[in-house]
Amino acid sequence: MEEKPPDWYEPGLRHVWLPYVQMKTMREPLAVARTEGCRIVLDDGRELIDGVASWWTACHGYNHPYIRGAVERQLAVMPHVMLGGLAHEQAYALARRLAALMPGDLERVFFSDSGSVAVEVAMKMAVQYWVNQGVRTRKTFVAFRGGYHGDTTGAMAVCDVEAGMHALFRGFLPEHVIADLPVDEESAAALSRLLDTCASEIAAMIVEPLVQGAGGMRFHDADVLRRLRALADRYELLLIFDEVFTGFARTGTMFACEAAGVVPDIVTLSKALTGGTLPLAATIARRKVFDAFWSDDPAHALMHGPTFMGNALACAAANASLDLFEREPRLAQVKDISAALARGLAPCRDLPGVKDVRVLGAIGVVELERIVDLARLRARFVEEGVFIRPFGTTVYLTPAFTIEAEDLAKLTAAVVKVLGESGAGIS
Ligand SMILES: Cc1ncc(COP(=O)(O)O)c(C=O)c1O
Repeated sequence: MEEKPPDWYEPGLRHVWLPYVQMKTMREPLAVARTEGCRIVLDDGRELIDGVASWWTACHGYNHPYIRGAVERQLAVMPHVMLGGLAHEQAYALARRLAALMPGDLERVFFSDSGSVAVEVAMKMAVQYWVNQGVRTRKTFVAFRGGYHGDTTGAMAVCDVEAGMHALFRGFLPEHVIADLPVDEESAAALSRLLDTCASEIAAMIVEPLVQGAGGMRFHDADVLRRLRALADRYELLLIFDEVFTGFARTGTMFACEAAGVVPDIVTLSKALTGGTLPLAATIARRKVFDAFWSDDPAHALMHGPTFMGNALACAAANASLDLFEREPRLAQVKDISAALARGLAPCRDLPGVKDVRVLGAIGVVELERIVDLARLRARFVEEGVFIRPFGTTVYLTPAFTIEAEDLAKLTAAVVKVLGESGAGIS
């Protein structure tokens, strides 16, 4: 930190436990005073252009006045009531609107509070879908190499061990089948052969459609999803699309499943659901999944109920976020961002140590051979006035859809400049 940190910083740092970092050797986090649109204003007065949108959540930029107004109005009326035995308009309106946005008969919305929990709920739904129909053998999942679905126990177990950062927990986690994505006919045949041997034990396949995010921002095309749908149908498996990252226009369509014309059986959403304002997640099921729970038998009910599910403030933010998607040209903005990312990052192709440059929707990725000093590289970006968080061998941009062309150009220029330097931490 360049100047004296604020009073709250040091005393708090001694007690807070931070994510994904060895705290003994880490560079100290940047103290933030406030956010504004696509800017993060640091306590010492510096302003950073945000290239990450706070782990891909703040799709309309920070502090959007329309979302803020909706949350403030809801706060004055009712911040929260439990959804057990009580109902409120924001949650019910949001459920109806999400169902209307989803393709096919994905129409039943279960609320929770984080992407990981949305995945847990999807997995419980899938297992119980079978149990409620008298099938007790289907308790395993097929997930995919490079995939990431969250940090809770059930979600960790369907992550690729390396991509999911959970190798340490091998032996503790339930074992599922981690397969290669069916990226061509050959790998589809391999997956089919695998399913020949184990389909009777599989509850569902789970995949991040079009982009495997935290596992390295790897893209696959829509054919992969169509093959998965065909295999799920052939072997009578449920198909779960984890759209926690891809949902809400990040890949260029409102949901990634739209691009493939595929209707999965269960979808998970979170991150941009509230426009990045408050924690909220949703697990959305097709009619046939819900129907397997609809019964005179109380034991057929889904026994899940996070305390803060359907939180009224979060649902008000999500409804306001959906209003913004309706009223403002978000999909067109994503298209423009896509073109600008492709243009702006193209010079990286000629830099030593760059393996690949790829863009999909509002996601721009520069894949490096290696990053030797991640902390140094991250710090260089801050020195350039941008907030960019490379991980693994990946430098990526996932800006807010409302970012000004000039700010986006500064982000891509910073990537080109820093990756072109010796001593920036990449070699
Ligand atoms: C595809 C996907 N699923 C699940 C999660 C977990 O979400 P959360 O961090 O909100 O628990 C993430 C988080 O990055 C994700 O990208």
